[in-house]
Amino acid sequence: MPKWLDNAVFYEIYPQTFLDTNADGIGDFRGIIRKLDYIKDLGFNALWINPCFLSPFGDAGYDVADYYTVAPRYGTNEDLKELFAEAHRRGIHVLLDLVPGHTSVEHKWFRESMKPEKNEFTDRYVWTDSVWEAPESLGCLRGISQRDGSCALNFFTCQPALNYGYNERTRPWQQSPEDEGPRATLAAMMDVMRFWLTMGCDGFRVDMAMSLVKNDPEGEATIALWQKVRAFLDREFPEAAIISEWGEPEKSLRGGFHMDFLLHFGPSHYNDLFRCEEPFFSDRGLGDASAFVEKYLESRKKAGKDGLICIPSGNHDMVRLAKHVEGNQKKLAFTFLLTMPGAPFVYYGDEIGMRYVEGLTSVEGGYDRTGARSPMQWDKSVNAGFSAASTEKLYIPQDPDPDRPTVEAQLTDPDSQLRQVKTLISLRRTHPALGNRSGITFVSTGAPKQALAYERGCEQEQLLVVLNPYREAVTFPYAKVLGEPLYTFGGEASQENGTVSLSAVSAGIYKIK
Ligand code: GLC
Ligand code: CA
Repeated sequence: MPKWLDNAVFYEIYPQTFLDTNADGIGDFRGIIRKLDYIKDLGFNALWINPCFLSPFGDAGYDVADYYTVAPRYGTNEDLKELFAEAHRRGIHVLLDLVPGHTSVEHKWFRESMKPEKNEFTDRYVWTDSVWEAPESLGCLRGISQRDGSCALNFFTCQPALNYGYNERTRPWQQSPEDEGPRATLAAMMDVMRFWLTMGCDGFRVDMAMSLVKNDPEGEATIALWQKVRAFLDREFPEAAIISEWGEPEKSLRGGFHMDFLLHFGPSHYNDLFRCEEPFFSDRGLGDASAFVEKYLESRKKAGKDGLICIPSGNHDMVRLAKHVEGNQKKLAFTFLLTMPGAPFVYYGDEIGMRYVEGLTSVEGGYDRTGARSPMQWDKSVNAGFSAASTEKLYIPQDPDPDRPTVEAQLTDPDSQLRQVKTLISLRRTHPALGNRSGITFVSTGAPKQALAYERGCEQEQLLVVLNPYREAVTFPYAKVLGEPLYTFGGEASQENGTVSLSAVSAGIYKIK
């Protein structure tokens, strides 16, 4: 079990749009290295970098053409190695993005796999045995090869599915996860992991981790597969960490993932909080956090005590938090995000409240995700300090608002969201009760017009976190006695006769006496 996860606070970097240092309009490794001090200064001690490997970029790099070579647009393998070293020098761990479910159609494995003669890669992907038969329920590529067969897709048309076998098999071409082809695919993916871990990376965010074994409705065979990966890591790289894009911790954590995300898809009710017409974090008071809380507690119970359930501020696949969570509500949302158990993940730019840029034309398979991937806003200079390229050359256009938030402005403003994020991370890292593995007990579940309040605790201390997003004051019964506040926003809570009162739009963290 990697010890560093106990207090890890992650920052997600979309490399295309973080910082461009050679004026080609696209971010690069040098840019990330240059901003490591900024990241460290905010209190982050871990990074997740989206895929940065060779790719035709039909899906922004999630269509990998060579797992062993970085895309020249970002730099060289040596530059990435330097990034690991520079991050480590600052106490920052780095996760790369592993895409095990599919490759690009340009990957050499796929080109070999399309050949009619049997070869090492014939069974590397999911193929039917006749071009006239399509794999059930998955889209497919067909009529593209001399090989007679249709190849299953895992996502977009440019992303053929790697073959990890079928759990339930009804057709002769469907292989067992234990067959030679699927076993070779898994071994090849472990080689990829070994390569980067040896070079200095600290683990992986795993793309579509739930998608590997087909016809596996309960995920049992996919869970068994990941248990093998975990055993391999425990043996060879015990300090390496893996986090799944799965969204169902009761499954992924059983599969040996150290962490799983709650996401905009899946059963977690994550969207109820930040991403729906009436989110909980809104002063209209029409939102409801209680279904989220119920599901969260159930997941924690089922997932066991070792794995971490991680609640991201956003990511490259969903609209920005700022689209539905407005003004000061963002500060309440961050109070929540940075005081919950599990490792927090902040998506680049969310720390300054960057907006979702509406109406953009899709870039590299982004579609409606493109507006959440716009270039970071560093300062007031041209292109907000992201790039010295001419504005039309930027990878994605920036937020056109002349008042767009910037790091520079927010660093000097003590009331800014950026400064709040920094304060909260520092509290989290200095108070063991707020640690990734400390306990949580809800005392008010954010049902309509009710506060969201929870105790965080460990042996050393007990804290109470309170959140009232509404325009009106709210109260809730609380028998214990509130002590000194560690943090407040929008007014201090009061307590009388076993009732706590919170002012409108307020948040706080209190010691419990
Ligand atoms: C994941 C990625 C997403 C990508 C897809 C296919 O959901 O986060 O960006 O398009 O997988 O790899
Ligand atoms: Ca560049």
